[in-house]
Amino acid sequence: MRHSIRFYLGERLVSLNDVAPDQTLLDWLRHKGRTGTKEGCNEGDCGACTVIVARLRQNRVVLKAVNACIQLLPMLDGAVLFTIEDIGSAAALHPVQEAMVSLNGTQCGFCTPGFVMSMVAYRNAEQRPNDDAAIDSALSGNLCRCTGYAPIVRAMKQALAAPDSAFEEMLSGLVPRLEALEDHADVVIQTATGTVFIPDTADTLAQYLLDYPDTLIVAGATDVGLWVTKAMRPLHVWPLSASAAS
Ligand code: FES
Ligand code: FES
Repeated sequence: MRHSIRFYLGERLVSLNDVAPDQTLLDWLRHKGRTGTKEGCNEGDCGACTVIVARLRQNRVVLKAVNACIQLLPMLDGAVLFTIEDIGSAAALHPVQEAMVSLNGTQCGFCTPGFVMSMVAYRNAEQRPNDDAAIDSALSGNLCRCTGYAPIVRAMKQALAAPDSAFEEMLSGLVPRLEALEDHADVVIQTATGTVFIPDTADTLAQYLLDYPDTLIVAGATDVGLWVTKAMRPLHVWPLSASAAS
């Protein structure tokens, strides 16, 4: 059993042993100074807070663009997390960033980090058709209120044709890092505001539910995240001795 969550934030291994069940990833990132990830709607609609979560699927690194505002921090256990600060630098822009600049894909810039993260995830997807319908679908979780979408789609098309950047080269080395995080431990973290339980197997989940039948089960958090950010509802609705939230 492990009493901490572990994940990589870019190149850095993070281990947290005091993480509340309702701690959102966006709040945690911004308090850490990763302020390139923006807060817009705080309800999973606008995409300003988009980050990339990398995990292993059948020995292959799979990138997923997710909304940090409704992602709960314990859900990051075992993953590699990338924010806009990890993608490129002022001296060496990622091809997506270069295309957004050269094709005027940004004006006020508030939505831009989120768009770039969705675009980088799409560029590294297994299937990444270079047509309007597929790109519109891939970027449908990101809203822009001032630039308009045509330049952003053009930037996506240009970036799809660009050669690998340092970011893509780094991705090929992620497999051993992700494998090292797979210790097959159940995670239990007790905090003042609830208990996080991350089962490794269906059997341990079943046993936990027998012991704590009022436990709140969280999968994608697309509903539960809103209970936290909009309803301001604490997840530990019962005393710790009687219940737990994961
Ligand atoms: S802030 Fe709008 S989706 Fe997260
Ligand atoms: S550039 Fe202003 S909202 Fe997109």
